[in-house]
Amino acid sequence: METALERLLPNPEHAPQTLHAAMRYSVLEGGKRVRPLLAFAAGELVNADPARVEIAACAVELIHAYSLVHDDLPCMDNDVLRRGKPTCHVQFDQATALLVGDSLQSLAFELLASPSLTDSPARQLEMIKLLAVASGSRGMAGGQAFDLASVGQALTLPELEFMHIHKTGALIRASVLLGAHCGDTLDETALTQLDRYAKCVGLAFQVVDDVLDAEAPTATLGKTAGKDAADNKPTYVSLLGVTRAREMAHELHHDALAALDGFKQSQHLRELADFILQRQF
Ligand code: IPE
Ligand code: IPE
Ligand code: MG
Ligand code: MG
Ligand code: MG
Repeated sequence: METALERLLPNPEHAPQTLHAAMRYSVLEGGKRVRPLLAFAAGELVNADPARVEIAACAVELIHAYSLVHDDLPCMDNDVLRRGKPTCHVQFDQATALLVGDSLQSLAFELLASPSLTDSPARQLEMIKLLAVASGSRGMAGGQAFDLASVGQALTLPELEFMHIHKTGALIRASVLLGAHCGDTLDETALTQLDRYAKCVGLAFQVVDDVLDAEAPTATLGKTAGKDAADNKPTYVSLLGVTRAREMAHELHHDALAALDGFKQSQHLRELADFILQRQF
């Protein structure tokens, strides 16, 4: 992934140099690459060619990196630390950070339009649409809007779940489904089960993120600890407390694994569900 991302990002010596340098700064070095790993693991279920999965995996990671750059802006979470480094707008400036997000998003869709992604134009269009819906107002961006509108509010559990499913779950789900679209066609039952896995780990990912924000130190997290409480954000921790939030993550992990029961070759998806539950940063 590191080599692939390195290769596809624009050369920082080419104009506009600052924008290209800022794009590379925001994508390379750091980042757990959980979404690409999920795409590769889902690809294994369908005997996908890793070279094809790599394209989809890079596209999702670029959208994710863009979402982090915008999430950190002063008009959103106003964060100064990301992946252990100054955030993009701190290292560069706000206008550059805005354009980094725009450019990474465009680059993601340029990649998904690569002729080498699949032999089926219909499937390729489906994949492009899948990522578009997952990123936009009915997916990640919509969840972010809900997040910003919820500051200082006491959300109900279903409202909080709605927010997390969109702002974080949607892209994680897209990672799994895109990986699964890179190989043999899954029957409807299998696709539904895989989607169930993806939804569970997607929600679990943000529940754990809320717990880590409350419990892990800044040095381990690579982002400012305790930021959610300081900003009065509704989270699984603020609503349920750390113990119950952790229990919910365990329940989602259990449901995610159960959804994989009918699959052979699901070892890596299982290990990623474990990682998402147990991660320390
Ligand atoms: C952070 O995502 C933002 C959320 C959606 C919770 P990650 O924890 O995957 O961030 P990186 O890519 O590893 O830095
Ligand atoms: C992440 O939510 C959602 C997106 C970036 C889309 P957070 O605001 O909790 O993510 P962190 O904690 O800043 O990584
Ligand atoms: Mg946020
Ligand atoms: Mg944030
Ligand atoms: Mg967070």
